Amino acid sequence: MRMKILVTQNKEAASQNAFELLQTDIINGAQVLGLATGSSPLGLYQKMTNSSVDYSNLISINLDEYVGLKPTNPQSYHYFMEHHLFAQKPFAKSFIPDGSNLNAAEVINHYNKILATYPIDTQILGIGNNGHIGFNEPGTPFDSQTHKVKLTPATINANARFFTSSKDVPTEAYTMGIGSILQAKHIILLAFGEQKADAINKMVNGKITTAIPASALQKHPNVTVILDKQAASKLA
Ligand code: GLP
Repeated sequence: MRMKILVTQNKEAASQNAFELLQTDIINGAQVLGLATGSSPLGLYQKMTNSSVDYSNLISINLDEYVGLKPTNPQSYHYFMEHHLFAQKPFAKSFIPDGSNLNAAEVINHYNKILATYPIDTQILGIGNNGHIGFNEPGTPFDSQTHKVKLTPATINANARFFTSSKDVPTEAYTMGIGSILQAKHIILLAFGEQKADAINKMVNGKITTAIPASALQKHPNVTVILDKQAASKLA
């Protein structure tokens, strides 16, 4: 098992761990950070915001964005990143797929060019309850690059908590592919809570299968998984 697993007391300790690992990577020369949305990286972003670290020479590249939401929409991942990190800690350049552009081929080509220009040094990841990473749902090929996805009903329901009703959750998203994610030099995956425990166990100990997108990370030589006790509770 090559993945490095850190089981921490709680979210606070996990976020501090992630912050320190990221800091070490930056000191060692990381210039391009792959960033994620969702509740899991929020503590890390808070630590980054409260720190005296200057990120203005670094590049950030986000994993994904809902199709059809403008950056000004409070449910968009653009808005999330602006609100939780970029407003306080600007980067030299920050890239997020343009969800307001309905021309998928254009968005995808543009994003793949960005990823080729700025190879990701450290990728922050969360995980969906069904083992998805970014918005790569079960069945996504491991060599996938940026693509447009139809979200599964399970993901729509899980993300409904951020919307007034599940009817308001967009049904499609642009996401970096699993192949794009695996290109990162170091991957730091954060997961908290009982509802993630099953996916975490399958990711770490299960068969490498597209049915569990995160199991692709077993193929990567430098993955650090940071968990609370609940998310680690089903680890065999
Ligand atoms: C969404 C995002 C993922 C994220 C997942 C889990 O599906 N596209 O990148 O990992 O939610 O979110 P949370 O961290 O809130 O559990």
